Amino acid sequence: MKLDNKVAIVTGAASGLGLATCKALAAAGARVVGFDLDQQRLDVALEGIAGIAVDVADEASVQRGIDAVVQRFGALHVAVNCAGVLGPCKTLSKGQVFPTELWSRVLAVNLTGTFNVIRYAALAMSNNDPEDSGERGVIINTASGAAREGQMGQAAYSASKAAVIGMTLPIARDLAEHGIRVVSLAPGLFESGMSAGMPAKVSENIVGGLLFPRRMGYGHEFAALVQHVVENAYLNALTLDIQCGTR
Ligand SMILES: NC(=O)c1ccc[n+]([C@@H]2O[C@H](COP(=O)([O-])OP(=O)(O)OC[C@H]3O[C@@H](n4cnc5c(N)ncnc54)[C@H](O)[C@@H]3O)[C@@H](O)[C@H]2O)c1
Repeated sequence: MKLDNKVAIVTGAASGLGLATCKALAAAGARVVGFDLDQQRLDVALEGIAGIAVDVADEASVQRGIDAVVQRFGALHVAVNCAGVLGPCKTLSKGQVFPTELWSRVLAVNLTGTFNVIRYAALAMSNNDPEDSGERGVIINTASGAAREGQMGQAAYSASKAAVIGMTLPIARDLAEHGIRVVSLAPGLFESGMSAGMPAKVSENIVGGLLFPRRMGYGHEFAALVQHVVENAYLNALTLDIQCGTR
């Protein structure tokens, strides 16, 4: 699907990978709307790109946000799920178990939030006239290398990201009849608000185990892959690693 003049939403748009994706899609000619929790953070970060306060964990908020985009631009063609939280905590620490509330929040944002956006984005995309290629829309999710090789304290995070990978194929199967592709991306360690909050020892350890280049990924490298997935109609129902040989 060509990006020029297409309508795209990106969640987690006020920071990191989501912000870089908004900028890349807008530079490629798409009409972009960023979703994140706080309107003021969005307005400052997006520098002129449209933004709407949406909590992806709240189904009604997602529905309102997507309705507003369709009302303003007449359609939705691309949805990129970047909203996510880390919620680090050991399963058992100092006699305390992993708090249920934290577990539920991480799953609510990373997993249910992703599914909320997928469901309502697919509904809007199903109304599009198909392109010559037959495509009506493209949905891209952000999983993580932690789905398979999580760090200490990442039980909830890794579970949520493994679930994103797990649901990619069945959702792609569900949406194929509508001409909608579904692809997930699994990044290694990237520069962002999330990685900045990790203990330096953990991030240095991960970077030290990389092949080449031995550094964190940059947002624009993730965004370039998002752009490629949108533009390449033969990518569907899979998860692509962008991890630089992370072990
Ligand atoms: N940075 C990395 O190393 C890395 C690695 C693998 C996967 N990821 C994934 O990439 C995605 C982007 O993360 P990032 O690294 O840019 O982190 P980030 O913290 O810089 O950005 C995440 C954004 O999501 C927003 N957000 C959180 N909860 C939300 C909610 N309920 N509704 C809407 N927005 C919400 C936050 O406000 C924030 O702006 C996440 O899904 C993350 O799990 C990141």
